[in-house]
Amino acid sequence: MRRLKKKFSPIRFIQVLSLIFPMILFLYVTPVSAVEAYPAFDPEARFHPAFARQGMVVSESVYATRAGLEVLKEGGNAVDAAVTAGFTMAVTYPRAGSLGGGGFMLIYLPGTNEAAAIDYREKAPGAARSSMYLNEKGEVDGEKSRHGMIAAGVPGTVAGLALALDKYGTITLERALRPAIDLAENGFPADEELIRSLSRVKERMKASPESMKIFFKDGGESYAAGEPLIQKDLGRTLRQIAESGPDAFYEGAVAEKITGFMKEEGGLITKKDLASYEALVRKPVRGSYRGYDIYSMPPPSSGGVLLIEMLNMLEGFPLGTYGHNSTRTIHVMAECMKLAYADRSMYLGDPDFVDVPVSRLISKDYARGLSAGIDPERATPSDRISPGGTAPREGGNTTHFSVIDKWGNAVSNTYTLNFSYGSGITVPGTGILLNNEMDDFSITPGVPNAYGLTGGEYNALAPGKRMLSSMTPTIVLRDGKPFLITGSVGGSLIITTVLQVLTNVIDFGMNIAEAAYAVRVHHQWLPDELRTERGLNADTIRLLSDMGYSVVTGDTMGSAQSIVKIGDYIYGTTDPRRPGGLAEGY
Ligand code: DON
Repeated sequence: MRRLKKKFSPIRFIQVLSLIFPMILFLYVTPVSAVEAYPAFDPEARFHPAFARQGMVVSESVYATRAGLEVLKEGGNAVDAAVTAGFTMAVTYPRAGSLGGGGFMLIYLPGTNEAAAIDYREKAPGAARSSMYLNEKGEVDGEKSRHGMIAAGVPGTVAGLALALDKYGTITLERALRPAIDLAENGFPADEELIRSLSRVKERMKASPESMKIFFKDGGESYAAGEPLIQKDLGRTLRQIAESGPDAFYEGAVAEKITGFMKEEGGLITKKDLASYEALVRKPVRGSYRGYDIYSMPPPSSGGVLLIEMLNMLEGFPLGTYGHNSTRTIHVMAECMKLAYADRSMYLGDPDFVDVPVSRLISKDYARGLSAGIDPERATPSDRISPGGTAPREGGNTTHFSVIDKWGNAVSNTYTLNFSYGSGITVPGTGILLNNEMDDFSITPGVPNAYGLTGGEYNALAPGKRMLSSMTPTIVLRDGKPFLITGSVGGSLIITTVLQVLTNVIDFGMNIAEAAYAVRVHHQWLPDELRTERGLNADTIRLLSDMGYSVVTGDTMGSAQSIVKIGDYIYGTTDPRRPGGLAEGY
């Protein structure tokens, strides 16, 4: 067959050229990185994260971020940097980071596919009994579980950080403690945020002359911004740990001071409690969400289980199509939150004491069954899920930091004293603030704790038991590599804050700064109220109210410290809700 020879048509030629030319131009002038890059480089993005190529630390303390980063630059790994940052915050962020608290560190090492959850949660002292926290009428007395000597659980922070370093780190404990010792002994300039946080707890702190001596000037006057906060006793304690390891804290000179003070002041922690404290390596809980792998904290935190349970339910709804913070999105989120928090009150506690049905709670089938009951038009009243309650609110304080190194190793760490400055009591001669974590137990079934969380038998107080937590250090993998490392502060708000950081990135395509800055919502089943931050638009609030929600607009929620890694690029953001943090990489 004779091929028809097409006649050259100038119009057709121009048409073809006009199609091809923009494509060639696009490929030529757009670097490959920008094509596959994250919206961080989107000039239209409203907020931009910090950016780096090798490693990054994101924390709520400039000093901790810089101390951790220094370790990364020296060739240390993410665990080395995290432990260094953790000890540094015990000095520079005393409202949450004291050696007298506890927490959780989640580690993911892509080289070995190893994921570990270090559990250094506080434990109930051997002598602790629920009856000690009741008044004459047999009701829970918040003063006792939150403010006095018996509010403190056996601290886990020193054991946890030392264990992480020993098992997964490469530097010495002495190196990890060096910046903390320096900052404690030589001081660092107090900033407005530190001064303000102290003035908020001053009345409570007056019960502890030792705390007043450290955190206020003679006569109880506040430090002025820029004046150095020097913590000599804390420096000595840190030196003792650097020289003798965690034994100094649990059996040596520091232990002597803690237990001596407990005896004098009617506290519960004994030599035996300290000597027998152990941080544990647990298996993280694992789930998946729209093709991403989720690793998070297992019990005794409720964080990981609830996060995965909520994600499993949400997977059945096209949130991306519904739109960020649209009425429909908030409605399904709130319903999933209620269902998950109801389960928290029932089934979660210390797995060494109770049989937590983790695999059922994080199974996709279970979530499908639960979410099938969600009415697309109406809020389900919480008392149709279970009996009601009320939530007192008190200012807590926890802190989270995230780290990634040049090998892609990731660490997500959340630790706390529970309230801001814990019980407010410092052990004389040590610089160690005591936690008030005993309030996280369900002292009487159904009676809410300081975060309005209720519980039952699973989280009942027992000697040696770890109290249930909401801390949710989380690492999300994409194609087997850490993609998103995040966690937050905020008591009961932690889990929903982390949930929204994840959905903001995965469902709504936000960069990590936009994801952190976006307005948050929260429901915890009891009390039956939908909390939102300021900034949710009035129309949405009205529509939600019409659906049956009691919408309460108020305080900010959580403070997430997050890192995202895409290809060779690392992006990080410290939450703007708390000043004083820093996301920095190299
Ligand atoms: O472990 C818990 O869930 C609580 N003790 C955490 C307290 C907290 O996050 C306070 N923060 N703002």
